[in-house]
Amino acid sequence: MEVAVRLDPAGSLAEQIYRQLRDAVLDGRLRREEALPSSRDLAGQLKVSRNTVTAAYERLIAEGYLVGRGGAGTFVNAMPVALPDAPQLPSGSLVPRAVWPRMPIPPDYSETPEFDFRVGAPDTRLFPYTAWRRLLTSQFRQSAVGTGMPVEPAGHLGLRTLLAGHLRTARTIETHPRDVLITSGAQQALDLIGRVLLEPGATAVVEEPGYAPPKLVWEAQGATVIGVPVDEQGLIVEALPPGARVVYVTPSHQYPTGVAMTLRRRVELLAWAQRHDAAIVEDDYDSEFRYTEQQLEPLHSLDRSGRVLYIGSFSKVLLPTLRLGYLIHPTSLRHALHAAKFLADWHTSLPPQAAMADFLAQGLYARHLRRVRRVYRQRHDRITAALAGPLAAHLTVVPSSAGLHLSALPRGAPTDDVLTRARAAGLGLASYPEIAAAAPGQPGIVLGYGMIDAHRITEGLTRLRQCLDAC
Ligand SMILES: Cc1ncc(COP(=O)(O)O)c(C=O)c1O
Repeated sequence: MEVAVRLDPAGSLAEQIYRQLRDAVLDGRLRREEALPSSRDLAGQLKVSRNTVTAAYERLIAEGYLVGRGGAGTFVNAMPVALPDAPQLPSGSLVPRAVWPRMPIPPDYSETPEFDFRVGAPDTRLFPYTAWRRLLTSQFRQSAVGTGMPVEPAGHLGLRTLLAGHLRTARTIETHPRDVLITSGAQQALDLIGRVLLEPGATAVVEEPGYAPPKLVWEAQGATVIGVPVDEQGLIVEALPPGARVVYVTPSHQYPTGVAMTLRRRVELLAWAQRHDAAIVEDDYDSEFRYTEQQLEPLHSLDRSGRVLYIGSFSKVLLPTLRLGYLIHPTSLRHALHAAKFLADWHTSLPPQAAMADFLAQGLYARHLRRVRRVYRQRHDRITAALAGPLAAHLTVVPSSAGLHLSALPRGAPTDDVLTRARAAGLGLASYPEIAAAAPGQPGIVLGYGMIDAHRITEGLTRLRQCLDAC
């Protein structure tokens, strides 16, 4: 990398190089793991002797700011102690559309609680790094990344074909690869659906409590979004407003309660959508993790009138930072969705799509799933056993046999009191309103087990019990 060092011929040159590089590390201009120029290159750039630069580097290495890695070079080794000062630029008087100031930006997730029951992420330690390194490397051979011209907006055809096959066997979903659209996560599928189906002012429905992004995305696009309550059978179909154009649901594992929508409700919802000429968005975000033989058919498989849009994501099975998801859509929407995808970002980054196709084709996805399912099942069973045993006097569990989280309702104490004590005891738990669109104060705590080891679960839940005893 280029390092801006200015030298005053009057002072010690090695000292000045040392100080300026040290300050750059401390204020974050040079970031951890960044490579420095070789001493020869920096000496040439600054027109000083190589010994001068070597002396500065040696001191920075001795003090821990840099690290030398044999033939690989010299790298930044320390974290900044402060953010770099903001440059003095005018802040401007431009104003965004009225909707944007109330749209949230995700919080900083960098602080890990002692007992990490946070919801939303899988265990990154389980990601198959070696296989993905190999697959991505092979995609970055010139022949594999295409002609340099953009590819179809719907994405890598091999991946779409393999996904159609996978969904047929794993989820009884019948689709054609032409109706599989690869997206940058489930998030982009929601965005495209809103663009294609919701006129400004149109009504859309989300679950309440429910996953916040569909509400936010569609409101930002100008729709009116209404929350419809969920009970122990899933979305209450009777409560749907008649004019809704789009209804968003998470039937396999309702977010955040964990309830599975009953077959009866599924059939009622499809019948309702047909009567009202509405679309259903089925978000099947974590259904690859099921801990029971009993499987309810997705709405997409039950649909006889082509009104279900089925969203899947690799965020839970692999990594959320891959930003890979997909949308199975009715053929009638193909042109509009491809055009919307093209306008949004032309197509999702090709090399990860192609690597994902190889991952599926070589049987590595199935193997990975078997492995991670075993791990998460153990965690799920451990939490369920504790909730049915030592914690049963304090918490009513919402039955759930899928996904990476489950929820429970505190019996005696208010949810907020439980959470305050639990957090003070090092537990990373959340209430419904904190992680979902929900009425303020709605009772219910959510326990995620994507990130916590099974052996930590037992200790964490013992602490939770102590907190509940004290409430
Ligand atoms: C309900 C729900 N849908 C979808 C996703 C995945 O979203 P994405 O694929 O955009 O990462 C999540 C992730 O937490 C989720 O909770």
